[in-house]
Amino acid sequence: MPSIGIFFASETGNTAEIARLIQQRHLPAGAAEVRDLEVTDAAQIAAYDRLIFGTSTMGCGEYPAALEAFLPELDDIDFRGKTVALFGLGDQYGYPGEFCDALGLLYQELLRRSAHLVGFWPTAGYAYEASQADLGDGSFCGLVLDEDNQPELTGQRLSAWIEEIRGDLLPNGPAVPLRQQAPGRAVAAGRTRAA
Ligand SMILES: Cc1cc2nc3c(=O)[nH]c(=O)nc-3n(C[C@H](O)[C@H](O)[C@H](O)COP(=O)(O)O)c2cc1C
Repeated sequence: MPSIGIFFASETGNTAEIARLIQQRHLPAGAAEVRDLEVTDAAQIAAYDRLIFGTSTMGCGEYPAALEAFLPELDDIDFRGKTVALFGLGDQYGYPGEFCDALGLLYQELLRRSAHLVGFWPTAGYAYEASQADLGDGSFCGLVLDEDNQPELTGQRLSAWIEEIRGDLLPNGPAVPLRQQAPGRAVAAGRTRAA
């Protein structure tokens, strides 16, 4: 079994695509399984001690349907001792007052369940008015991507973020990615937070 479970909720395919990119280009072959939350049950998440969750934000600051439907199942998973990194997709110009809110809401759910959350990300480089994902200290609670307005930044953001969390997700893994170097590595938040 792979050591990392990547689970995502996606309405129009963007988050799904990023989840597969992480698996195929940023992690060693065979290290991660990718699964749509729409076809996931609690036991499949519980089987992993290292997890990545990805979600877009829909409606007006709401969860995508698959994540909304999955929420009750979170109660069936013991997140204590599990290391979790989050990424979220949103549209900072279209929804400046609810930018990536679902990411922040999911973070709160996992924090409440005592997950060990890693992969915080600087808020610099984004233009928005309010976000539930903004922790108020210059960082987001996970990687924030904006495929609607900043798709050209996604590759370097992903590379830098994966470097940041590599030690948490692949404790015995190689220091550099097997299949992708990180050109022009950006500076990430570099902090972890446990509940
Ligand atoms: C109907 C609709 C509502 C949206 N609402 C928000 C929102 O409240 N906040 C936000 O940051 N982005 C919002 N977005 C932007 C999406 O999160 C963004 O396009 C994302 O890349 C979609 O990813 P997905 O294809 O994985 O669902 C919305 C998009 C649509 C189509």
